[in-house]
Amino acid sequence: MNYRHAYHAGNFADCVKHALLLSLIRILSRKDAGFCVLDTHAGCGRYDLSGEEALKTGEWHDGIGRLLDQVELSPALSDYLSTVRALGLYPGSPLITRHALRPQDRLVACELHPEDVRPLRRLFRADPQVAIHHRDGYEALRALLPPKDLKRGLVLIDPPFEKRDDFERCAEAVSLIRSRFRAATIAIWYPIKHRAPVRTFHDTLINAGIRDITTYEFLLRPPLDATRLNGCGVLVVNAPWGFDEDARAILTGLRDGLDGTHEELDIRIERLAEE
Ligand SMILES: C[S@@+](CC[C@H](N)C(=O)[O-])C[C@H]1O[C@@H](n2cnc3c(N)ncnc32)[C@H](O)[C@@H]1O
Repeated sequence: MNYRHAYHAGNFADCVKHALLLSLIRILSRKDAGFCVLDTHAGCGRYDLSGEEALKTGEWHDGIGRLLDQVELSPALSDYLSTVRALGLYPGSPLITRHALRPQDRLVACELHPEDVRPLRRLFRADPQVAIHHRDGYEALRALLPPKDLKRGLVLIDPPFEKRDDFERCAEAVSLIRSRFRAATIAIWYPIKHRAPVRTFHDTLINAGIRDITTYEFLLRPPLDATRLNGCGVLVVNAPWGFDEDARAILTGLRDGLDGTHEELDIRIERLAEE
């Protein structure tokens, strides 16, 4: 396991993922009944952007650094940015999620890297609403779903994509989640280097008969050079009502807020399968 999120925390792709994640949780919170968020690849929970790893890449400067520096940004980003500000050290997905939970909701987070699971455990020690598992997030789906006492939920799958089969494992995970916890919303973050693997991933889900799929993509440049991270996407299955509109406003706000960091910023929302 070579991937360490501390090198990439706060980059444009993290901002896209976290702003959309927070919006999904806010929409789920509109109904009183509690829900469970399962974060299969949680990372270490929070990151020091002045630390050695973040300094080495400097990626956060063209992401959260740029957004936090600006006064006039789209109101669609204000919830996300005020959450980041409120949490002190730059928050990862489990901390953002925890911040948005109500007393009736729960977070279950899996992390496989021993050095990342330790700070994650420390962060949520003695928090009765959070359970941390040191285990493979894909395998955990079978053991942890459906949640024991909650009928609503969100599964976030955010792998490092350092292995060749991550797209395949994500597609298998969707079918598994649908069979064990049909009501769940599923959000999968994916990198866009070039189009072919992304298209294959989408086609695999469509051919497996998965319904109600939408993709929300943010591109820095056309995905032509497969050696670079040219953009990213979040694929959502079973998005809650109202998410599409919020996601469009968030991606537009991010495009405007990150304008100037790259020459050909673009956003793309595509409905892959109807309900
Ligand atoms: C992209 S990072 C997660 C970032 C986090 N979701 C966030 O947004 O703050 C991916 C994480 O998955 C962990 N990981 C890699 N393979 C895993 C697996 N099979 N199961 C669980 N975690 C895994 C890595 O150690 C890394 O911390």
